[in-house]
Amino acid sequence: MRITKTVEEARSDLRELRAGGRSVGLVPTMGALHDGHISLVRAARAHCDEVAVSIFVNPTQFGPNEDFTRYPRTWDADCALLKSEQVDLLFAPSSEEMYPRGSSTFIEVADMSDRLDGASRPGHFRGVATVVAKLFQIIEPDKAFFGQKDAAQVAVLRKMVRDLNFNLELVVCPIVREPDGLALSSRNRYLSTEERKQALVLSRALRHVEEESERGITDSSRLIRSAGEVLAQEPSVRIDYCRIVDPDTLEDLADTSSGALAAVAAFVGSTRIIDNLLLPPAETR
Ligand code: PAJ
Repeated sequence: MRITKTVEEARSDLRELRAGGRSVGLVPTMGALHDGHISLVRAARAHCDEVAVSIFVNPTQFGPNEDFTRYPRTWDADCALLKSEQVDLLFAPSSEEMYPRGSSTFIEVADMSDRLDGASRPGHFRGVATVVAKLFQIIEPDKAFFGQKDAAQVAVLRKMVRDLNFNLELVVCPIVREPDGLALSSRNRYLSTEERKQALVLSRALRHVEEESERGITDSSRLIRSAGEVLAQEPSVRIDYCRIVDPDTLEDLADTSSGALAAVAAFVGSTRIIDNLLLPPAETR
């Protein structure tokens, strides 16, 4: 596995990897890798000849009171894991390399950036869109792999790829969960044993929405109400949002018949976690 920390080196490595027309898949991450990340690496392996992974804890997507400085950094374990997955290139730039002094250009996906997580984390999606656009410019992947876990991120990035004519395919992979339903997340390691138990209420609420949908209920306010009843079983979990939206525009949907995204975010202690469920169109439920 080649490890590069500069843009110039990454570009020269990629020129070699791409020789003879080989395709490149990119998996952007912030490290602290878990099986969710690895599922993206494996999908990239299955779709592309060469697999590039980036590890960069992107300062511009964290708010001033968020966890940028204490975000888990597990470099040695991440490298070992990526080597064992036979990743071809690991791009791990410093903040100065990604944002040289004087950097002042940002990408804002208007409208979408202030919905769901964007509403509670102002500027978050501007930072995500900017860093992902930069990674696309540096790596020039044929395909880029993202997790459905961050459903709003996927919607914002899809829109950005379309609006800015990025010449690549965005591949979205399903949420990887613990056997008890908890969606894997680098932030789960902040949870105490007790909080981890409380966090299960998110996937439980979404499972309940799925069951209600399968029983033929398509009225969003009714589905949200019944999710709320499950969420209320853990009074210490503070709900940030629980909504049913159009998965492409993130606008609220009154009815789920043509397909919908049920998304929830909550604070368990001081840790903010998210989860979601894609509801297929009613006729296929
Ligand atoms: P990070 O949180 O490290 O996640 C990297 C990728 O892994 C994202 O596409 C995310 O959706 C996916 N992922 C995380 N948990 C997952 C799970 N349980 N199942 C499936 N996929 C999962 O998302 C980011 O980093 C950053 O915002 C980034 C895109 C790298 C830009 O900085």
